[in-house]
Amino acid sequence: MSSPLRLGIAGLGTVGIGVVKIVQKHAELLARRSGRSVAITAVSARDRMKNRDADLSPYRWEEDPMAVARAEDVDVYVELIGGEGGVAKASIEAALRAGKDVVTANKALLAMHGQELAELAESLGRVIRFEAAVAGGIPVIKTMTESLAGNGITRVMGVMNGTCNYILTRMESAGLPYDAVFEEARQLGYLEADPTLDVGGIDAGHKLAILSSIAFGTRVNFDAVEIEGIERVSIDDIRRAADMGYRIKLLGVAQTTPRGLEQRMSPCLVPADSPLGQLMGGTNMVVIEGDSVGQIVLRGAGAGEGPTASSVMSDIVEIARGVRLSVFGQPAAGLTDARPARTAVPAAYYLRIELLDKPGALAKVATVLSDAGISIDRMRQYGHPDGASVPVLIVTDKTTPEAIDFAIEALPKTGVLVGEPVELRIEEV
Ligand code: NAP
Ligand code: HSE
Repeated sequence: MSSPLRLGIAGLGTVGIGVVKIVQKHAELLARRSGRSVAITAVSARDRMKNRDADLSPYRWEEDPMAVARAEDVDVYVELIGGEGGVAKASIEAALRAGKDVVTANKALLAMHGQELAELAESLGRVIRFEAAVAGGIPVIKTMTESLAGNGITRVMGVMNGTCNYILTRMESAGLPYDAVFEEARQLGYLEADPTLDVGGIDAGHKLAILSSIAFGTRVNFDAVEIEGIERVSIDDIRRAADMGYRIKLLGVAQTTPRGLEQRMSPCLVPADSPLGQLMGGTNMVVIEGDSVGQIVLRGAGAGEGPTASSVMSDIVEIARGVRLSVFGQPAAGLTDARPARTAVPAAYYLRIELLDKPGALAKVATVLSDAGISIDRMRQYGHPDGASVPVLIVTDKTTPEAIDFAIEALPKTGVLVGEPVELRIEEV
């Protein structure tokens, strides 16, 4: 058996400790599968005195992650600190320059600086692996770069933030408003330190940008992702959507169109009986469509110690086996800038309005939709105890986002609406 693969781990939080535990628990298994043993030599975190749920005494403690990154007795630098820049980025660069390969779970860093880091790694003959960065324990990066290498990818979509999926499904099952479930999620420790990363769709947007790059052979461009979070999703919409046979998901979709690459992360309706509609709680799902394979669906835990460390370990074993892949599935220098396109692919839309209960009100709404070129597929009017206004739900036939924007602007001008209209895209899945 060849010499051990020596790891330096920076970041001993949820994921870092998970990795330490797997290395300790499965030492023999990892050696058999890798063809060499896998050993941790050095570790680093902020607070040496912190009580951690693993025995770190066999490993050298470094106060500074940069020392781990540059250590002579480290072959692979495992960055599990997080953050889109700062010490995570600086230490990865230092490790690459010191001749180390890198494994990371840091989606924010890859979404913002992935191209630059990939070019640096490849110019130095090093690899960066990041299976854990997208959808935690789901092996989506390897599926796309390896298993689907023979496919032209036509569309990638999915639910990639477990916290948002937890909030949305809990709202439905408990009949609770957004604010109450957000607070519950905070108390359960599900939210990132900055919760807008979760509920603002940014974390999921980072993941989508990374998947887009691999799927379409383009440079990661997070700024081109159209992002809307789940903050405006109300319990009313969740109930009404369910009534019409849908569930609301924070859904990411990336697809190439004749106008360019569309990337959006937004609350959408999906059929309640579809795989995405059936996805409950903190679970993630990624759906990939390839021109030969058709549609495949990957489902699993998107976060947490075990699942995320499982993906980090798969990268470590890959390096131990001597597999050396380009960072984004093809040489970074050859990746091109995609032409970013705003969403224009037609879709059906869900519209919810509160309508004054008086003659001609509905006719005015129908006129606005007709003027916008929007055809109605289904409509439902609900009774209302006070009788002054009634909730009306409309599911449109396929139409363009432009037409919907026109209607949303025109509807309040009819004078027959109470409050603002709500629109949500219905994604074909
Ligand atoms: P975490 O629990 O907050 O742990 C972060 C670790 O980094 C802690 O051990 C912390 O030290 C250390 N650290 C922070 N700043 C440091 C600094 N300046 N120098 C040295 N060490 C520093 O984070 P995590 O959940 O394990 O996440 C790690 C990475 O995995 C992130 O990129 C995250 O986005 C990604 N990820 C996480 C999950 C998940 O389920 N948690 C899933 C997918 C991807 P102390 O412990 O001493 O404070
Ligand atoms: N905050 C993320 C989520 C963690 O809820 O999915 C995993 O990336």
